Amino acid sequence: MVAWNDNITPVFAFGLTTGIALTAATQYLLTALVGNNRKQIVEVPVPSEPLNGHSLVRKESGILTQHTRSLLRLEKEFTVSGQRLQTLVRHMVQEMKKGLAADGHQLKMIPSFVVRRPTGNETGSVLALDLGGSNFRVCEVYLEGQGRLRMRHRKYVVGDDLKRASGRVLFDFFAEKIEGFLDEIGADKAIERNLGFTFSFPVGQPALAQGHLLHWNKGFQCEGVVNRDVVQLLAEALNRRNLKIKVTALVNDTVGTLISHAYTDPQTHIGVILGTGTNAAYFERIEEIGKWTGPNETGEMVINTEWGAYCEPSVLPITPYDLALDRASTAPKMQIFEKMISGMYLGEIVRYVLLDLISTGELFKGRGSKKLDTPYNFETANMSRIERDHSLELSDTKAVLEDILGIPTTSIGDRRVVKTVCELVGTRAARLSAAGIAAIVTKMNRLDACTVALDGSVFEHYPHFANRMRDALREMLGITAENIILELGRDGSGQGAALIAAIHH
Ligand SMILES: *[C@@H]1O[C@H](CO)[C@@H](O)[C@H](O)[C@H]1NC(C)=O
Ligand SMILES: *[C@@H]1O[C@H](CO)[C@@H](O)[C@H](O)[C@H]1NC(C)=O
Ligand SMILES: *[C@@H]1O[C@H](CO)[C@@H](O)[C@H](O)[C@H]1NC(C)=O
Ligand SMILES: *[C@@H]1O[C@H](CO)[C@@H](O)[C@H](O)[C@H]1NC(C)=O
Repeated sequence: MVAWNDNITPVFAFGLTTGIALTAATQYLLTALVGNNRKQIVEVPVPSEPLNGHSLVRKESGILTQHTRSLLRLEKEFTVSGQRLQTLVRHMVQEMKKGLAADGHQLKMIPSFVVRRPTGNETGSVLALDLGGSNFRVCEVYLEGQGRLRMRHRKYVVGDDLKRASGRVLFDFFAEKIEGFLDEIGADKAIERNLGFTFSFPVGQPALAQGHLLHWNKGFQCEGVVNRDVVQLLAEALNRRNLKIKVTALVNDTVGTLISHAYTDPQTHIGVILGTGTNAAYFERIEEIGKWTGPNETGEMVINTEWGAYCEPSVLPITPYDLALDRASTAPKMQIFEKMISGMYLGEIVRYVLLDLISTGELFKGRGSKKLDTPYNFETANMSRIERDHSLELSDTKAVLEDILGIPTTSIGDRRVVKTVCELVGTRAARLSAAGIAAIVTKMNRLDACTVALDGSVFEHYPHFANRMRDALREMLGITAENIILELGRDGSGQGAALIAAIHH
C-alpha cells in the first residue's frame, strides 16, 4: 500500500472533512480535459490537519453512531440524485454532438463503417474470429433466416510464447486453427465464406475491412504488426493455406453486440458492454456526423462512442476514493467514466472506502489484512456476493471478509457497513450507466421506442444492477422510460461479427 501512505491520504482528508471533494476533483482532472499538450499537473491542496482531527470527533460518539455517521457521509458522497443525472445526460448529449462534429473531444464517437442493419432474413454460413486476449475463438454462424441462427465455436489458448512470436507466426496460427475448425465441423471448404474479425486491441480504422494496430497491450508484443493492417495480415495468412475465406469486417465487440441483437429485434438501436470494461455503440444518422466525409449509402451508421473516456468532473460525482483509485492506476486521468462503472474497478473503489474506514478505526476495530491492502484484491465478484447476502447475520459477507480477505474478526455492525458500501458503489455504477443510455436515447430522439442490448458480467451477474438502471431511467425520463427496453445481449464478438460480415460483404 505504498500509494495509500504518501500523497493519497491528504486528498481523502480534504474531501472528508470539508466536503469540497468536487473542487479537488475538478482541479485534479482538469488536465485530463485540456489534453496531452498540457503537462503541468494541478495539485490538490493539502489540508493542514489530515484525518486525525476528524477521527477524534467520531471516537467520542460510540460504535453505532460512528457507523451511522460515516455511512451518512458516504451516502451523501456516492448518491447521485435524479437531478444530477439529468444534468449529466444534458452534458453527455452535448459532448456526443461535439465528438460527432470533430475529432479531439472527450467522446471519440468513432465511425464504425457499419451502415446496415440485419433484416433477420439473412441466410448462409459465415465465420467469425474473436481475439480478445489470452484466448481466441473461431465461430461458424449459420444464419437460418427469420431471426434465427445456429452457432458452433471453439476456443483456443494464445500462449505466452505466441504473444511474443512474430506477427507472421501469430496470424499463421490463426489460419491453421481456422482450417482445423472447418475440418472438425465437416464444412465444405470449397464454399467461399465471409469472416468478421473481432480484434480487441486499439486500432485506427479507415474502412470496414481495414485497421492498423496502434499499439499492443494485454501482454502481446508480436513484431511486425504495429501500424500494419491486421485484416490484410489475416487475409495473407488465410491465402497461404489456400482457404476461400474473405475477411469482410473488422469489428469492435460493442458494435457486434448491437448488430447481434438487432438480428432478432429490429427495434435495437443501442449496444452496451458493461463488463470488465464498458462501451456503447448506436445507430446515428449520417447528417448528424459532421466529421464524416465518406459516402451516404443507407443514411445511417453505427457510432462507437468509447464512452468509458467520458470525464467531466463538474457533473460526475467523483469522490476522493475515485481520485485515489485513478492516481494509483496504470493510466491516470483516462477512462474516468469507466473507472466509476465497470467491473474492473467497482471492487477497488469499495476497497479504498474500507481502507479509509479501517484507518479511522471505524471498521474491524481498525484492523485490516494483507489481502485487503493489496490493490485489486477485492473483486467485483466479491461485491456481488455481499450484495446477494440477505441472511440475518450476513454470514456470506462474513465468509468473504474473514475467510477470503483474512480480516481477523468482524462484527455484525461491520458487516452491515461493508454491505452498505457495496450497495452505494454498485448503485452509483448502475445509475451512471443508465444516464449514459438516456443520453444516447435522447441524442437519437428515440424516446418513443428503443431496445438496448447489454452484454457483460456486470449487467448479467451483478445483483439488482438492471433494476437500479430502470429506476434511474424512470427518475430521468418519467413515464417515457417505459419505452426503453434493457435486454441481455449475447456474443457480439462472435455472432455480431459474423452478422456484420454477412450484411456488408
Ligand atoms: C423477410 O422475409 C419475409 C418472408 O419472406 C418477408 O415478408 C419480409 O418482408 C422480409 N423482410 C425484410 C426486411 O426483407
Ligand atoms: C474496441 O474494443 C476494445 C475492447 O474490446 C477496446 O479496447 C478498443 O479500444 C475499442 N475501440 C477501438 C477503436 O479499437
Ligand atoms: C443521407 O441519405 C439519407 C437517405 O438515405 C438522406 O435522407 C440524407 O439527407 C442524406 N444525408 C446527406 C448528408 O447526404
Ligand atoms: C473474492 O476474492 C478472492 C480474491 O481476493 C477470490 O479468490 C474469490 O474467488 C472471489 N470471489 C468470490 C465470489 O468470493
